[in-house]
Amino acid sequence: MPSITVQPSGKIYQTSSGISILAALLAGGETIAHKCDGKAECGSCHISVIEGRKSVSKIKPAENERLDMTVGVGSKSRLACQTIVGEEDLIIEILSV
Ligand code: FES
Repeated sequence: MPSITVQPSGKIYQTSSGISILAALLAGGETIAHKCDGKAECGSCHISVIEGRKSVSKIKPAENERLDMTVGVGSKSRLACQTIVGEEDLIIEILSV
């Protein structure tokens, strides 16, 4: 069962592979913006995947386009609503405001 550690708080959420990082965080009670409810339209669920990037789902065109329009994007940026948890533990930082 993979876990998601949120930095800098260090909170750890146990989750399952096959669900989005956004869904996993919300299920655990984490506060994360998600203004479009997971449609890759708002960019408010912007996160950085610090560890475990290779285990999560690949970026699809809709996510890529939205990230192109998002402020502060880096090489580890993903949208939590479009990123599906794989088999490995993840360490992320929530960048949304
Ligand atoms: S919730 Fe809007 S892009 Fe993820």
